[in-house]
Amino acid sequence: MITVISGTNRPESRTRLFADYFSAALEELGQPTQLLDMADLHHGYFHTEMYAGKPGDPRLVDIHRQYIQPVRKFAVFVPEYNGSYPGVLKLFLDGISVLDYAGNFKGKHVALVGLASGRAGNLRGMDHLADVFAHMGAWVLPNRLPISGVEGLISSDELTDADTKNALLQQAEQLIAS
Ligand SMILES: Cc1cc2nc3c(=O)[nH]c(=O)nc-3n(C[C@H](O)[C@H](O)[C@H](O)COP(=O)(O)O)c2cc1C
Repeated sequence: MITVISGTNRPESRTRLFADYFSAALEELGQPTQLLDMADLHHGYFHTEMYAGKPGDPRLVDIHRQYIQPVRKFAVFVPEYNGSYPGVLKLFLDGISVLDYAGNFKGKHVALVGLASGRAGNLRGMDHLADVFAHMGAWVLPNRLPISGVEGLISSDELTDADTKNALLQQAEQLIAS
């Protein structure tokens, strides 16, 4: 099982379209996949319960038990927000770290895909996030995939750019092989 994380809670996020395409590619390659969208998180743990540790908020615990704890491989899609990855993703990572630090990402494989309106494909944000995953003990795959000018790659809410589809397919194959 691979968990694909769409790393923003922005309504009608374009990141989600790329994460959906990637999830479908994994499934076509015969790899069971589940998608965790930061838009689907409840917001209760934002306050005191966020750092309360176990037993924790049941809704966050359920997400943690399904999407993080039993899974060995992750693909994380992160749009560039002000030169980095979205704060909601860090909030989530901090929230689950107090539930089970070692069982979350230690020794697990993480592929990163960055998305940006601009030209750098969120390379900086992927570097920031790679540092955070390394801190938590994960192996971040070397080929981080930057996708630039995202608006031009989509038509009618669908990824249409052939080169980007190819690059995502290669990324999916590398994650499976890792
Ligand atoms: C709060 C916010 C900050 C953003 N900052 C940047 C930025 O620093 N550089 C950039 O190229 N694009 C920036 N963008 C555009 C997003 O990177 C672009 O729309 C992204 O690839 C897809 O984001 P989405 O999933 O929210 O649609 C920003 C968008 C938002 C909502």
